[in-house]
Amino acid sequence: TSIYGDYIKSVIRTVRDWPQPGINFRDITPVLQNSSAFRKLIDSFVHRYQELDIDAIAAIDARGFIVGAPLAYELGCSFVPVRKKGKLPFQTISETYKLEYGESTVELHADAFQRGDRILLVDDLIATGGTMLAAARLIERSGGVIVETAAIIDLPELGGGDMIRNEGYGVFAACT
Ligand code: PRP
Ligand code: HPA
Repeated sequence: TSIYGDYIKSVIRTVRDWPQPGINFRDITPVLQNSSAFRKLIDSFVHRYQELDIDAIAAIDARGFIVGAPLAYELGCSFVPVRKKGKLPFQTISETYKLEYGESTVELHADAFQRGDRILLVDDLIATGGTMLAAARLIERSGGVIVETAAIIDLPELGGGDMIRNEGYGVFAACT
């Protein structure tokens, strides 16, 4: 958890039974609407990463972009989108992974990184961890070195953070 973790958590809204019965959806839009909360959220990531020589933020489509872009601007590093299948126009590499039901594919431009680039991978939320791990594999295949994976929220009951750690990556969450 981050410097402003308790505060950020207090601003996130939980919507019961959405998008289906039994799911309690963590809605970050109240954080984005509140300029002070949004700033604290980005600052909590800046505080953790400003001395870690990050070359690029890789952010996951779509809500990862919301934190990834301002963070890249603040850190003075580049920004690389990891996108859902079929969105990137140039030559891509892809990883397909299992969802609770069915599967999904994430893609990265083949020329996104130089070998050895130090990458911070960001998304809004870790549930099962499948999305973050697939993106991490893509980055390593393209020559990037993952400094850490970071999310606004890590849902601990789903074990996603532990699964990512078991694969050897650090996990940082602004709150749980
Ligand atoms: C959500 C969320 C993460 C992912 C987390 O994205 O933004 O990317 O699921 O789940 P996991 O840890 O079980 O993989 P979603 O697929 O809803 O896409 P969106 O951001 O485009 O709405
Ligand atoms: N909130 C936002 N995105 C998600 C969630 C959630 O609770 N679960 C899976 N993706």
